[in-house]
Amino acid sequence: MALLEIDDLSKSFLLHRVDRRIQGCQHVSFALEPGQFVGITGRSGSGKSTILRCIWRTNLPEQGRILYDSARFGLLDLAQATQRQMLYLRAYELGYVSQFLNALPRQTARDIVLKSALEAYGPDERARAEAETERMLRHFDLDEGLWELYPRTFSGGEKLRLNIAAAMIKRPRLLLLDEPTASLDNASKLKVRTLIEQLKAEGTTMLGIFHDLEFMEGLCDHEFNMQEGMMA
Ligand SMILES: Nc1ncnc2c1ncn2[C@@H]1O[C@H](COP(=O)(O)OP(=O)(O)OP(=O)(O)O)[C@@H](O)[C@H]1O
Ligand SMILES: [Mg+2]
Repeated sequence: MALLEIDDLSKSFLLHRVDRRIQGCQHVSFALEPGQFVGITGRSGSGKSTILRCIWRTNLPEQGRILYDSARFGLLDLAQATQRQMLYLRAYELGYVSQFLNALPRQTARDIVLKSALEAYGPDERARAEAETERMLRHFDLDEGLWELYPRTFSGGEKLRLNIAAAMIKRPRLLLLDEPTASLDNASKLKVRTLIEQLKAEGTTMLGIFHDLEFMEGLCDHEFNMQEGMMA
């Protein structure tokens, strides 16, 4: 059975100020089997991020179903899930790397990753969470001098690497990646790739958007193209 099946998903945005409706994504259907890595490709503005935001439910889907096979709730339509269910899933089953760091103020870089690890492993595993946090921060070459700082002043790439570390440390069942390598240099991109390969070997299912098609080479099992509306 598929871990995630998107069935005829559409989302548009009504802009009241100009009284116009903007199409986000239209009639999207595809499925993700457990352990697969699927890449979404398509031109800018074609609705790739909208799909991820509908799964994460920061966008409320308009039409269609997002059937997710949850460990906790069984088969669940994320388009209909309650806010409580979504909060649970975001904490324990789903991961999302957006291009923007969504951190609370006055949380240090280390705290952000540690909080994420503690959420996933539970409070009894504090020593493991702390060790994993340091391993992750090191893996992404986040300078030790930055660990105790607030990331507000971090560079774009530093924020992004922190974001990825916080999402990946949880080993979520389903990981959503929205251009996680966009502002990174080659060395950092390779670090992201290494972790993606590691997670994949551990069985994490992933849905990712990458501008850099070369980066996806040999990583994706399938590619869903927005214009063609089908999987290749
Ligand atoms: N909250 C919103 N309000 C209004 N329009 C929106 C909103 N979010 C997205 N859109 C519009 O929906 C369309 C699809 O946006 P989306 O971000 O999904 O594109 P994308 O394929 O991810 O593009 P890119 O490759 O540039 O990131 C765009 O035309 C965008 O302007
Ligand atoms: Mg996008």
